[in-house]
Amino acid sequence: MAAAARTVRVGVVGCGNVSSRYLANLAGRSAVTVVACADADPARARALGQAHGVPEVHSVDALLAAADVDLVLNLTPPRVHAEVTLRALAQGKHVYTEKPLATTMADGHRILDAARARSLWVGTAPDTFLGAGARTCAALLAQGAIGTPTSVNAAMMNPGPERFHPEPEFLYQEGAGPLFDIGPYYLSVLTALMGSVVRVGALGASARAERVVLTGPRAGSTFTVETLTHVNSVLEFASGAVGMLVTSFDVAATRTPHLEIHGTEGTVVAAQANSWGGPVLLKNAGSDFAEVLPGPHESDGFMGMGLVDMAEAILTGRRPQATGARGLHVLEVLTAIASAARAGGGFTTIESRWESP
Ligand SMILES: NC(=O)c1ccc[n+]([C@@H]2O[C@H](COP(=O)([O-])OP(=O)(O)OC[C@H]3O[C@@H](n4cnc5c(N)ncnc54)[C@H](O)[C@@H]3O)[C@@H](O)[C@H]2O)c1
Repeated sequence: MAAAARTVRVGVVGCGNVSSRYLANLAGRSAVTVVACADADPARARALGQAHGVPEVHSVDALLAAADVDLVLNLTPPRVHAEVTLRALAQGKHVYTEKPLATTMADGHRILDAARARSLWVGTAPDTFLGAGARTCAALLAQGAIGTPTSVNAAMMNPGPERFHPEPEFLYQEGAGPLFDIGPYYLSVLTALMGSVVRVGALGASARAERVVLTGPRAGSTFTVETLTHVNSVLEFASGAVGMLVTSFDVAATRTPHLEIHGTEGTVVAAQANSWGGPVLLKNAGSDFAEVLPGPHESDGFMGMGLVDMAEAILTGRRPQATGARGLHVLEVLTAIASAARAGGGFTTIESRWESP
C-alpha cells in the first residue's frame, strides 16, 4: 500500500467488456489507484491501458507478482475467477472479484481459507446492495413500514445477453447461465434485506440447444448452450419468510415486477437488483403505492463501490462490506438451486449464514 498517498494500488486482471466501466467509475476516487492491467490476451490489456491511462501494462504473471500492486481486481470470466483469485492471494494481494466468487463451493472455501491464512481481504461483486435503492428498502424494513416481512417475489427475465455482449458464449457455460449471472444480484440484495437463506428448491429448463451471437464482429455465428437458461426457485429465509426467484434468458418480454417484499402491513417494490438506484415504491395501510426517496445527499451508487469500500476499509482498518463470506453464502444458495434444478426438484438445506453488517 502506498502509505504516504493513502491509496490502495489496484492491478486489473481481465480487460474485457466490463473493465472499461470499472476504470471509468474508479477514476478520481482517492482510496484506489489503478496502477496496472493484464489480460490473457495482451492486446486487450494494451487497449484498456491506453484508453484509461493505466501506467503499467503487464503479463498476468508479472501483474500478480508486482510489488506495487496491493489489490487485484479480478474481471475474468466466471470459470477462471477461482484460479486468478487464488494465485493473487498466494502472492499476498487482497482481491476483489466480479461475481460469482467461484463456481463451486470447494473453490469458494479454498479462497476464504487462503485469505484467512494470509490475513488478506477477499471481496466480491455484486455491490448493488450498497446502492441507494437497496439501502432505502432496508431502511423501510427496519422502520417497520410493511410490518413483519413474510414473503418476496424476485424475477429477472429477458431474452439473453447475446443482445448486447459481443462474446456471449461464456454466459451459457457451466458456472454462468441466468442463475449464476443474474442470481448473485438478487441473492445479494435479498440476503441484505431479509437475512440468510436456509433452504432452497428449484426446477429448470432450456428453451434452445443453440443460440446466435447478435452483436459485434461475430454477429450471426451460433454456439451451443451448456447450462439451464430458465430457473424457477423457492427460498426459505432464517426469519421464516419464504420467497421465489426466477432467472431466465428464455423470456421475450415480461411485465412481472423485479423485486417485491410483502409484509403483514404492506409491500415494498424495489428496482432491478442489478442496478444501484431506485425507484422504491411503498404501499401500506391507508396509502396507495408512492415513491420513497433515498436519504438526503445519497447518490445511487456505481459498479465498483464495493471495491472502493474495501479499499477504504483496508486504509482505515475496518471490515469491508462486500466480503467473501457474503459471496460464499450466495454461492452456496446458487449451487444448491442449480443442483435442485438439474435433479428436477427436491429441497436442499443451506449451511452457511451471512448477515448484513
Ligand atoms: N459485461 C458486463 O456487462 C458485465 C456486467 C456485470 C458483471 N460482469 C462480470 O464481469 C466478469 C467479466 O465479464 P466480461 O463481460 O468483461 O467478460 P469478457 O469475456 O468480455 O472479458 C473477460 C476478459 O478476461 C480475459 N481472461 C480470460 N481468462 C483469463 C485468465 N486466466 N487470465 C487473465 N485474463 C483472462 C479474457 O481475455 C477477456 O479479455 C464476469 O464475471 C461477468 O459476470 C460483466
